[in-house]
Amino acid sequence: MPAGVVDAAAKGVRPERRAAGAKKQLVSASSHLLFRATVLATIALVVLFAAHYPSLLSRSYILSAAAYGRGAASWEREVRRSAAPRRDGALSVLVTGAAGFVGLHCSLALSARGDGVVGLDNFNAYYDPSLKRARQRLLASRGVLVLDGDVNDAALLERLLAAARITHVLHLAAQAGVRHALRAPQAYVAANVAGLVALLEAAARHADPQPALVWASSSSVYGLNDDAPFSEDHRTDRPASLYAATKKAGEAIAHAYNHIYGLSITGLRFFTVYGPWGRPDMAYFSFARSIVAGEPVTLFRAADGAVARRDFTYVDDVVRGCLGALDTAGKSTGSRSGKKRGPAPLRVYNLGNTSPVPVTHMLAILEKLLGRKARKRVVTMPSNGDVPFTHANVSHAARDLGYRPATSLEAGLRHFVDWFVRYYKVDVGGGSADAGKTAKRKSMPTSAAS
Ligand SMILES: NC(=O)c1ccc[n+]([C@@H]2O[C@H](COP(=O)([O-])OP(=O)(O)OC[C@H]3O[C@@H](n4cnc5c(N)ncnc54)[C@H](O)[C@@H]3O)[C@@H](O)[C@H]2O)c1
Ligand SMILES: *[C@@H]1O[C@H](CO)[C@@H](O)[C@H](O)[C@H]1NC(C)=O
Repeated sequence: MPAGVVDAAAKGVRPERRAAGAKKQLVSASSHLLFRATVLATIALVVLFAAHYPSLLSRSYILSAAAYGRGAASWEREVRRSAAPRRDGALSVLVTGAAGFVGLHCSLALSARGDGVVGLDNFNAYYDPSLKRARQRLLASRGVLVLDGDVNDAALLERLLAAARITHVLHLAAQAGVRHALRAPQAYVAANVAGLVALLEAAARHADPQPALVWASSSSVYGLNDDAPFSEDHRTDRPASLYAATKKAGEAIAHAYNHIYGLSITGLRFFTVYGPWGRPDMAYFSFARSIVAGEPVTLFRAADGAVARRDFTYVDDVVRGCLGALDTAGKSTGSRSGKKRGPAPLRVYNLGNTSPVPVTHMLAILEKLLGRKARKRVVTMPSNGDVPFTHANVSHAARDLGYRPATSLEAGLRHFVDWFVRYYKVDVGGGSADAGKTAKRKSMPTSAAS
């Protein structure tokens, strides 16, 4: 006889009733166990899910945080306001890399003619981010919003394309620079290959209707081509740098997205763009800095003794080419469902100046404008990606985009130097950039703004 029953009998309780009570306890205990097991199983499932789909979870978290959290509605309102065209027939353009050099100038020009512009930039530290912030502030003063974000952030792109009715994308975000690829190869793959794919995915599959896309390729795709001037139908299968290879890959990727999804895509091969608000990593900019600081300037000579020549192109000319490409871009023919109505335009154009100039001549112009001689250090060009010369044939851009480069290197560098001395508060004695021999550095803060 079980102990409980003896006990119950001693207390004068009928054994049957006691047995029923024990059974009840047993049932409730087992349901507790079941409850605990269910909770544990649920937790295990969530953990498993999180481990397998981290992007999905974080994405939905970000989306819901954005939708219900602080400022979601005002974020959307700001994006819509910035992207809204301000005249009939105007465009609504998403400019990636808008806090960059060319991105700034294109955004200013679009906004000035009444197009809506919303920018996106990740403000990376490849060169002084305070210069990018200053460009962002300049754009903000013209009513152009530049969002802080990465083109690889698919959820952000989707949200952006849902918030505003973007008609055109001007994709300028990239890891630029030829020599830096030796130190940071993955940065080129992330920005120029993965970033381009993320953007094309968003444009092809998450925008309704699909926008037309214009993006920056590069003259560097001509690589070791020595047939000059460079024409769009010349070979581009011999890149001399990883940078060039990622731009060439971009052109192939553009072909695939145009073919599959009916995206209208125009690639623009820029040739050494320079001007105010330029890129500190480029030769003309670093030469100016070195001249002012009294530091030596390094000049590269090819192995055969020839000095490097570049088809320097003034930024305003390039901007006109970009706007021409946006204005003439035909419509995309695909839709979110993946059906395309027919072939969409796929174009590629050189945007150069058509007159290569020896880098030594560019330096001489800077010396004159800054009123100071450079200390020169001539070294043989290492085979690290730079090509000996570039020279654009722009007849296709002239025909289709109305592109006519109109700025001489002297005139363009004068605009650059005017900006440079103002931005960095360089004293050139007398206020004008070519005021003679008195140029000296007053201060060159890396965070100066104007
Ligand atoms: N300036 C030239 O001479 C030249 C020549 C050929 C091609 N290009 C191409 O033109 C475009 C613009 O060049 P630029 O001279 O204005 O360079 P830039 O570096 O000043 O501008 C690029 C901008 O993109 C941003 N960016 C980089 N990766 C990003 C990412 N993953 N997500 C969001 N933003 C990102 C950077 O912060 C930067 O502000 C680039 O695609 C470049 O490769 C420029
Ligand atoms: C430039 O390209 C056009 C079109 O391909 C061609 O007809 C012309 O001859 C080229 N110009 C030069 C100088 O090579």
